[in-house]
Formats: sequence, structure tokens, C-alpha cells
Amino acid sequence: MTKPRILVTGGTGYIGSHTAVELINAGYKVVIIDNLSNSNRDVLDGIEKITGVRPDFVEADCTDMPALTALFEKYPDIKGIINFAASKAVGESVEKPVLYYRNNLNTLMNLLDLMPRFGVKGIVFSSSCTVYGEPDSNPVTEAAPIKKATSPYGNTKQISEEIITDVINSGAPFKSVILRYFNPVGAHPSALIGELPNGVPQNLIPYLTQTAIGIRKELSVFGNDYDTPDGSCIRDFINVVDLAKAHVIAVERMLDDKGEAPVEIFNLGTGIGLSVLELIASFERATGVKVPHKIVGRRTGDIEKVWADPRHANEVLGWKAETSIDDTMRSAWKWQLHLREAGIM
Ligand code: UD1
Repeated sequence: MTKPRILVTGGTGYIGSHTAVELINAGYKVVIIDNLSNSNRDVLDGIEKITGVRPDFVEADCTDMPALTALFEKYPDIKGIINFAASKAVGESVEKPVLYYRNNLNTLMNLLDLMPRFGVKGIVFSSSCTVYGEPDSNPVTEAAPIKKATSPYGNTKQISEEIITDVINSGAPFKSVILRYFNPVGAHPSALIGELPNGVPQNLIPYLTQTAIGIRKELSVFGNDYDTPDGSCIRDFINVVDLAKAHVIAVERMLDDKGEAPVEIFNLGTGIGLSVLELIASFERATGVKVPHKIVGRRTGDIEKVWADPRHANEVLGWKAETSIDDTMRSAWKWQLHLREAGIM
């Protein structure tokens, strides 16, 4: 039996592209919408090389209601949505809050508005562990309190979760799965897709791999005076392909009506907290490549330590992050080498 079509918003982006691959591998038809504001059309070639299938692609902005409506009219077989389309730079969101609220919230509301009109049965939403702020204890379960957001970006994730819940509680004829990602890292093992940040990377891994290859001189480690064993911050680094696979399970669950509630929330992490210094050591061990780094002051707004209790996803979704951190680091390095070979950077 052929599987239905899934709309992947932001599908040429980092997590979106890896998820498109897993959806296609699982037999779904995929249509991607992306405005290419933080990604590139060539990603479609990577997806096609990996899967043998080129996903349909619409270049448009999800805040553009007429364009989005036209997409649903063109693809009446869309039965599920995975919503990745969003702005995601914490620092930029502090500078440009209106941009963040408009992009992230209008996109979601347009989708929620169109879903019943076009018979779409469910939406998977990309949320973040940022909703927990600095947790009272670790590992963090889904029942941990939501802390006041420290950036407009974080606030858009909290508000989006509330909007989805309110809409579904109002009796909307669809389901939702909210996925709270910890720190997604690495790349597809083929090195045909990966993370490609614009300009100077703000996130740890792209900065690290760009330093390792010589594009950046030195990685700054933001703080070694935190209350952690080595003084650097602790995160839960989850392999992006493992993360992508959870989306396929979530989609299936919504479309087959297997959920325990109309809105379900899952943490997606490994359950292992790793410090920034431990991560650098893992990269060096796994690749044999040294990463010049120095300790500098803390970065404003950083969380000291946060890692997931992923048991809810493990037990209910039957999903588990399986890739070792060393394999993940090797995949990130292979991707950086691919970017060099391809003359991209
Ligand atoms: C942040 C957001 C998260 C968002 C993600 C994607 C918060 C609390 N977290 O994650 O919600 O999904 O960005 O943009 O808002 N580091 C260095 N040197 C660097 C870069 C980072 O030491 O050059 C350290 C940071 O201090 C931090 C860790 O590495 O301790 C991870 O940083 P980063 O990759 O930026 O992710 P988060 O801040 O955890």
C-alpha cells in the first residue's frame, strides 16, 4: 500500500532534510516547502542521491497564506505535516523579536488554519528543550516545569506549544505530536547532507568542525566555572539521523490514530549529559584531528546543564537514540570535509 504524502516545512534545512530522507526511505511521498532563507536548493540533490527519489519542492514562505493555500490545492494527498520552518538563532531573536514572532507563529497558525480545510490528519511540531530553561534537576522529563523563556526564540517555542494545545482542545479534527529536541548534531553518514550555517556559526559543532579544518582559528569555550565536573556546560547531544527517525514514528502514530492523547509531547535526547570539553575530546578521539580551543567568559543566556530523560519516547514510541557520540562526531567531520571537497567552504 502506498503511504500518504507528508508536507515538510523547512525541509531543505538541517533537521528537515535528514527527516525528508527518513520519510522517503520509509515509503512516504514528500513535498518540501522552504523559503531558502537559511538553506540551499542543492540540498534536494543530496536527498535524491541518498534515497533515489527527488522530493517535490515549493519555494515559498509559510507566512505567505496564498502560496501555502496553493500548495495544499496542488497536493490534495497531504495527510500529515512536519513543521520545521522557523527562525532559530537565539541571539538574533533578541535583536529582531518581531521577525521571530512573525515567522514562527504565523507559519504555525497558517498551517493550523489550513489543516481542517484540506483534511490533514496531524502535525508534528519541532520544539526544544529550551522550554525547560535551567531545569531544577536532570535528567529532565516532559513533566518538568516550563520556565519563563529567556529569548524571543525560546518564547516562540513555548507559545507554539500552547497554540497547538488550545487549537486541539477546541475540537480541531487533527492530532499533534510535539517533539522537544535536545542538541541535534552530526550529519548523514553519506555526508551528502548536513548542517550548513550562514556566516559565522553560533552553535558548537559547526564552529568546532570549521575550526578543525582551519576556517576558524580557535574555538572559544564559553565558561569553565560552571557547577559541573569540568566546569563547562553540559548538554545532551543527539545524532540528527536518530532524531529524524523519531519523526517518522511520530507521523505514523498520528496518521494511524495510535496516540494516547490528541496532543502528545516527547523529549528527544540520548539521556547522556556531555560537557563541552568532553565533546571536544570525543571529536579529537574519534577523528584524530585536534581542535584548537581556549576558555573564555560565559555566554549570556546559556543554561548550565540540561539533559533528557528520554524514557517516554523510548517506551511509547519504541524509539531510541542509538548512534555513539564518536560516530556522530565522525559524521560531522566527514560532512565538513565534503564541504571542502565540493568547494562550498
Ligand atoms: C541553543 C538553544 C536551543 C536551540 C539551539 C539551536 C537555549 C537555551 N538553547 O542551544 O534551544 O534549539 O541553540 O540554535 O536557548 N559553545 C561554546 N562555544 C561556541 C558555541 C557554543 O562553548 O562557539 C557552548 C555553549 O556555551 C553551550 C554549548 O556549547 O554550552 C552548546 O551551545 P549551542 O550549540 O549554541 O546550543 P545551545 O545553546 O545549547
